[in-house]
Amino acid sequence: MDRIEICRAKKFKGEFFPPPDKSISHRAVIFSSISKGKSLVKNFLKAEDTMTSVNSMKMLGVDIVHRRSTGKKNRRETELIINGRGLYGLKEPFDIIDCRNSGTTIRLLSGILSGNAFFSILTGDESLKKRPMSRVILPLRQMGAEIMARGGDNYPPLAVRGGRLKAIKYSMPVASAQVKTAIMLAGLYAVGETEVIEPFKSRDHSERILPCFGAHISVEGLYIKIRSGLELKGTEVYVPGDFSSAAFFIVAAILIPDSEVLIKNVGVNPTRTGLLEVLKQMGANIVLNNIRDIYANSSILTHDNSLFIGEPVADIYCKGGRDLKSINIMRESIPLLIDEFPIICVAATQAEGITTIRGAEELRLKESDRISAISKELRKMGAEIEEFEDGLSIKGKTELKGASLESYKDHRIAMALSIASLIADGTSTINNVSSVNISFPGFFDILSKLTA
Ligand code: S3P
Repeated sequence: MDRIEICRAKKFKGEFFPPPDKSISHRAVIFSSISKGKSLVKNFLKAEDTMTSVNSMKMLGVDIVHRRSTGKKNRRETELIINGRGLYGLKEPFDIIDCRNSGTTIRLLSGILSGNAFFSILTGDESLKKRPMSRVILPLRQMGAEIMARGGDNYPPLAVRGGRLKAIKYSMPVASAQVKTAIMLAGLYAVGETEVIEPFKSRDHSERILPCFGAHISVEGLYIKIRSGLELKGTEVYVPGDFSSAAFFIVAAILIPDSEVLIKNVGVNPTRTGLLEVLKQMGANIVLNNIRDIYANSSILTHDNSLFIGEPVADIYCKGGRDLKSINIMRESIPLLIDEFPIICVAATQAEGITTIRGAEELRLKESDRISAISKELRKMGAEIEEFEDGLSIKGKTELKGASLESYKDHRIAMALSIASLIADGTSTINNVSSVNISFPGFFDILSKLTA
């Protein structure tokens, strides 16, 4: 079994570039594949999750080539050259497509495959086979797709026979960027104008990136319209650093008293950075420097001639040594910090008072049941946690102690527990830590460098 031992950090100092953004990397590959002609994806995340999207698109006949390139400040980056096949150029896959651990791959692909007149089967690993798919199946069926799935049409494997779709107006019952994007992608194939309404704002990378490929998307608050009948065209996409990966080091820096960290080139799209608001309210010392916009392709104007909204990027400076106070996190903020839940729980153990997180039942449906997983493991370290169906409350401040911990093969639980171990008394052992390779290969190298 792969495991790691971590003991209390005496120092936490330095600067680094986090890995490229996982959500944007998935989208860049998938959107390029259904566009006509060549696309170039710069600073692509080469990790297990995103390679799943690359391999899936290859099974659908897309030609994708990797090359190493030298990016800003002489950093080695991965570049993808994708020869897109256009909306209707994908080939029927010869075999079952294995989406492994990736919810983004399976949900986004189900939207695309619904519009393609061939048969395909999508499956995944043990974790993905437990994650609900009816949230995409129901709207896609309303649009006219034939989709069946295991467990009462809810769990992978999914069998899709795509065909002619019609536009729908769909009010999403849960705030999910994966579901929203699946419907938007199906909308590109549908006759008419597809409308999607979110209950709360979720990450909006698809809305920002699809127009670079020529898609007509309009957004007004929670209301999104997608026009069909246009061929997408290949373009160039630059992927900024992943805020969700940086998040573990932001919290570590805040919790370790003698720390000072600069995290460079991080995507700070406001639909992703709910953690910053939370930590600032808790009293943390965080400053965003050098805020700039990275345009996927700076020469692009949107279809209505308004300026294309790129992805904001910044360097994040954080310093420890301040006392933290508890806060309440409510349902409407959850989508803005959805992937940061485990690491927020670690921060809450060090905040004075009771931190409550409610309206977060979606966290039970991630790569693991993250509410149960983080409660159980932090309790082993001495944390005082009360679990609810839709969240938890954590009473701080607690002196954590080293323990034997389980990551449930969930990358974000493995990384959150690694940070908890840095502030605990004694040594912790964490099992199944190779799951960090899902989103953050090199996580432990950066951790060692900052603590050395
Ligand atoms: C993602 C959306 C979120 C997030 C996941 C990536 C995306 O999931 O948790 O890690 O890339 O769209 P949901 O849309 O299911 O909340």
